[in-house]
Amino acid sequence: MDQKQLQSEKNEPLKILVFAASFREDSLNEHLIKFASNIITEYGGKPDLAFMRDFECQSFNDDVEKERGMDPGAEKFQQRLANNDALAIAAPEYNGSMPGYLKNTIDWVSRFRPQPFNERQVLLMSASPSMGGGSHGLWSLRIPLEHLGARVYPDMFSLAVAHKAIKNGKIEDPILAKRFKSTITGFMDLAEAQKNYPCAKTAWVEFLGEKPDSATDRVEK
Ligand SMILES: Cc1cc2nc3c(=O)[nH]c(=O)nc-3n(C[C@H](O)[C@H](O)[C@H](O)COP(=O)(O)O)c2cc1C
Repeated sequence: MDQKQLQSEKNEPLKILVFAASFREDSLNEHLIKFASNIITEYGGKPDLAFMRDFECQSFNDDVEKERGMDPGAEKFQQRLANNDALAIAAPEYNGSMPGYLKNTIDWVSRFRPQPFNERQVLLMSASPSMGGGSHGLWSLRIPLEHLGARVYPDMFSLAVAHKAIKNGKIEDPILAKRFKSTITGFMDLAEAQKNYPCAKTAWVEFLGEKPDSATDRVEK
C-alpha cells in the first residue's frame, strides 16, 4: 500500500470539481478534464466532472439579480463548489483572454455570500490548437479568481497544438503527459494539506507585538 492509499484511508478523499469551460462538442478542454479526472482518481482523489452547459448564466445585470435573484447556472456552480474541496478548470483562450461567458459566470457566482471563491484552491489548465496552448487565457482567468481570494496554484498546464497532442485518448508525448500528471498531483498535495492539516500556517506568535526570539516563537508544523 503506498503513501497515498494510506492517507486516503486516514482521511476522506480529496474532492475536486473538474470543470471544462467550453460548450463545444468534442471540446479539447473537455478531453483535458477527463485525463485530469483519471489522474485524480489514481492518486486517491474524487473528481466531480462539470461542463460549461451546467453553469451557463444570462449576461449579468444588477437589476435582474434584484428582481429575480441568482441565475440558476450560478446557483449550481456555487453548490458544486460547496460540495468539493478544490476546483480545477480547463478553459479555452478566446482572443488572448478567457471566454466572456466564463467571466460572466464568475461574476454571478461572486455575488453569493459567503463569497464562494474565497480561500478556494484552484488549478488552471487549458488546451488549444495554437502553439501557446491557451496560456494567455489562463493569466487573464487568474486575475478575477485571485481578486476573489482564490488560492490559484502557481503552476498551470497549457496543452499546445492540442488537436494533435491528444491521440488515442491520451496526451501522447510521454514528457508532456508526465508534466501534466505532476502538475495535478502537486496541486492535490497542496489542496489536501490545506484540507486536513492546518500546516500551511508555519509561524504563530502568541501576543501581537511579541519580539521574535527563540524563547517566544511558536512554530506549528
Ligand atoms: C472567438 C474565438 C477566439 C479564439 N482565440 C484564440 C486565441 O486567442 N488563442 C488560442 O490559442 N486559440 C483561440 N481560439 C481557438 C480555440 O482555442 C479553439 O477553438 C479551442 O478548440 C477551444 O477550446 P475547446 O475545444 O475546449 O472548445 C479561438 C476560438 C474562438 C472561437
